[in-house]
Amino acid sequence: MKKLLGIISVIIVALFGFLACYNNPYDNGNANGNGNSGGGTGNPPTATSKILIAYFSCTTTTEAIANHIEAETKGSVYKIVPEVPYTEEDLKYYTGGRADREQADPSARPAINGSVENIGKYDVIFLGYPIWHGQAPKIIYSFLESYDFSGKKIIPFCTSHSSGIGSSDTDLHSLAPTAEWGTGKRFASGTSQSTISYWIESLNIHFSPDEEEK
Ligand SMILES: Cc1cc2nc3c(=O)[nH]c(=O)nc-3n(C[C@H](O)[C@H](O)[C@H](O)COP(=O)(O)O)c2cc1C
Repeated sequence: MKKLLGIISVIIVALFGFLACYNNPYDNGNANGNGNSGGGTGNPPTATSKILIAYFSCTTTTEAIANHIEAETKGSVYKIVPEVPYTEEDLKYYTGGRADREQADPSARPAINGSVENIGKYDVIFLGYPIWHGQAPKIIYSFLESYDFSGKKIIPFCTSHSSGIGSSDTDLHSLAPTAEWGTGKRFASGTSQSTISYWIESLNIHFSPDEEEK
């Protein structure tokens, strides 16, 4: 009897030892310490994401943030260029100028010059814009209505003189309803590379550098 109890004890101890050491491949986290604590792209932990940084910027403030994101993620950059460029006069706000009129017109969709090559290959799209009267410029609406974003994650970012992001990011959701939308973030002019680095890290995205574009 004693012998039998001894054998059962040994089996139980061995079983616990096995379960403790078993490394479940579907657990978040891996041996390199690159744990995925969730909130990322929705990809399995071992998958990597191809990144596109699409942005609109008239006076380079948003462009500088886009460049920081590019440096962090080694993603591809796409500048949203209007078919008719905005002049200094167009950008003077509260003057009834072009930008003011477009923002006040729900149906305004300024045309874009060119398009993203092979958008299908990207998993995560950082979408950048300046705040115009509390909202994204209407050319961002044109951009979102130009592609199928199914299966992609869009992460908005913006710059402004002083306003917060407000509802400018969530108001874009209905323009690409099949995308997964990340929480948008507003950055001040002159935001540092390290601030962007910290933000990107918090997103828990596993990057796949787009070597073809480099
Ligand atoms: C038509 C227009 C409307 C603007 N509305 C706002 C606003 O509501 N709140 C704000 O803080 N800044 C506003 N700005 C300032 C821009 O958001 C800010 O200068 C932005 O960083 C410019 O980005 P860019 O250099 O990438 O074009 C507005 C600028 C323009 C041209």
